[in-house]
Amino acid sequence: MRILIVDDDGITRDLLRDVLQGAGFDVVEAGTAEEALGVLRADDVRMVITDWEMPGMGGLELCRTIRRREFTSYVYVILLTSRCSRLEAVEGMTAGADDFVAKPFHKGELLARVRAGERVLSLENREMVILALAKLAASRDSEGGQHLERLRRYARILAEALGRHPEYQQRVDAELVSLVYQTAPLHDIGKVGVPDAILLKQGKLTEEEFALMQTHTLIGAETLDAALRNYPSARFLQVARDIALSHHERWDGQGYPHGLSGEQIPLAARIVALADVYDALTSPRSYREPGSHATACEIIAGEAGKHFDPAVVVAFQQVAASFAEIQQQFADDVQPAEPPGAVVSFA
Ligand SMILES: [Fe+2]
Ligand SMILES: [Fe+2]
Repeated sequence: MRILIVDDDGITRDLLRDVLQGAGFDVVEAGTAEEALGVLRADDVRMVITDWEMPGMGGLELCRTIRRREFTSYVYVILLTSRCSRLEAVEGMTAGADDFVAKPFHKGELLARVRAGERVLSLENREMVILALAKLAASRDSEGGQHLERLRRYARILAEALGRHPEYQQRVDAELVSLVYQTAPLHDIGKVGVPDAILLKQGKLTEEEFALMQTHTLIGAETLDAALRNYPSARFLQVARDIALSHHERWDGQGYPHGLSGEQIPLAARIVALADVYDALTSPRSYREPGSHATACEIIAGEAGKHFDPAVVVAFQQVAASFAEIQQQFADDVQPAEPPGAVVSFA
């Protein structure tokens, strides 16, 4: 990440630069706020650490100017100040500062605050990427308006229930639960690559068409892999990819695209697989009424160790009542156009 240091005092700039470069950050400098604005125009700066009091434009005015401008991504601003009253803190925040560091600064504190800023920025990146991808996914979702909303909620409570299981406690941490919730809506994103004629076909798919339909798992994974190459450490992309690629795999190895079985299937995909099937079973289709909650529970129980991970089925049984509530709360009033691939897992 590139950080811009703004201070009229050369010694402070040197100190800041040493600390930040020592911690692996890319640093650019400016001696005045005016100069800083020039750098911001030209450079890919994500964070600004600026002195409060400078000749000419001060730190507060610099903050306000940054907030008025439309940068492609958010610029995080830390004010460096010897003022530390509450009133001044309010003044700084109102001007658009994100955080403060007292002067003379403590090396450890400065780095801790910079890292906190980095976390905020990475969340912003993540949300932007997920939002854009989710929109794309929803544009190809033919399973009814609320399918993705229900699915992410089913997946979340299922993940939480699994996390209470002693064997899974280590693997299902709070972050995974939240990532599954955020990325489950991307499971069918690969349908962007499936022709309308197949996606919206009424009636049964031919063998060839079904084979094409199945490629949505591979296309989705490829799409997310491309994003992963830019952000290799982004765990949300990893989870999203696992789900997109493997949500049609089966515990007994009879699924697609790779015929993985058991523990070979990423856990997040095993969770979404059950949630997706529950939703398909309890949603109306053009050729049949929606199945009841009880019937869905029965079918899912019967698929433990076949379609589904038995541990995920146990977790489902513990929270099945919440599934029914979500189904009610987010029911589709309009019957969706029947997508032939929607229930492929049970076709
Ligand atoms: Fe799918
Ligand atoms: Fe789905």
